[in-house]
Amino acid sequence: MAIELRRVLISDEVDPKCVEVLQSHGIEVVKNTKLSKAELLTEIQKYDGLIVRSATKVTADVIKAGTNLKIIGRAGTGVDNIDCQAATERGIIVMNTPGGNTLSAAEHTCTLIISLTRDLARAAQSMKEGRWDRKAFMGTELNGKTLGIIGLGRIGREVALRMQSFGMTTIGFDPIIGADVAAEFNTEWMPLEQLWPRVDFITVHTPLIPATTNLINDAVFSKCKRGVRVVNCARGGIIDEAALLRALESGQCGGAGLDVFVEEPPKDLTLVQHPKVTATPHLGASTVEAQSRVAVEIAEQFVDLAQGKQLFGA
Ligand code: NAD
Ligand code: MLT
Repeated sequence: MAIELRRVLISDEVDPKCVEVLQSHGIEVVKNTKLSKAELLTEIQKYDGLIVRSATKVTADVIKAGTNLKIIGRAGTGVDNIDCQAATERGIIVMNTPGGNTLSAAEHTCTLIISLTRDLARAAQSMKEGRWDRKAFMGTELNGKTLGIIGLGRIGREVALRMQSFGMTTIGFDPIIGADVAAEFNTEWMPLEQLWPRVDFITVHTPLIPATTNLINDAVFSKCKRGVRVVNCARGGIIDEAALLRALESGQCGGAGLDVFVEEPPKDLTLVQHPKVTATPHLGASTVEAQSRVAVEIAEQFVDLAQGKQLFGA
């Protein structure tokens, strides 16, 4: 059944191709990334559809104010900035573009893993500051090390394949992806309790849900080898930030690569400024290619809906 989509609001920085695709199908588009919450609450009633990235918080009051809203689109994977339950209660469809930024997020994860082994960020900074400090930056090889991948979905498996090319052994856990599927990307599935003592690096690729909140905590760090390094390019809060700081201070954790934070941007910069932390401001999907793909995909999904075609999303 086709849904009448006359006007769409884009309230976050989404690639211009999104506007082009919608307009070429006769849909009126307003892009305004500067709306305050109060302005959004007033404006939203004029629109049939809303497209966001992660900056706009589509809370229950925004959804309630959107009396004409039929669809909310997320140009990206995570829909944690959208109150999906409130949308569902009002019969509003929520769509995302789950595969569009997979490769970029996987590549960024690998970048963080590789950077950690050579303390790249600090070494580069030391040269900018005029130093030539070769003794301060003794690295480790990735070859022969074991990478534990928590969450073997779209991004987790791409990380596995890429890090294997550096000679890493990949092991992982996922409650839904079984050992047979993990074996297809050369990854040995095992329960977490078996995984922790074996890993040199841990990378998390799960959604942030109650079961994954603070999944990497004090108890987990204590079960790992001393100096284990961790990467979070998924969602802030999967690694307990306070536990991570304690583990970095004690040396139990040898380094962390963080793209995501419990609070974004983080007000408390203790972790970000820690010498053993390489931090990036949620850049996993920030590539020309990924942003172009998610923009086109979400627009095409809106057009499909307007034309009564089959819906897609995850
Ligand atoms: P996905 O749905 O393909 O994979 C997630 C996997 O996590 C699933 O296989 C699921 O079964 C598994 N999982 C769920 N609960 C688990 C648990 N308790 N323990 C272990 N595994 C569990 O998702 P994806 O596309 O691979 O995305 C992974 C994460 O990366 C999401 O949080 C997403 O929002 C985030 N992400 C971040 C960026 C970024 O810019 N940093 C970009 C894209 C995606
Ligand atoms: C996502 O969930 O897709 C990521 O957080 C990337 C983003 O859109 O910023």
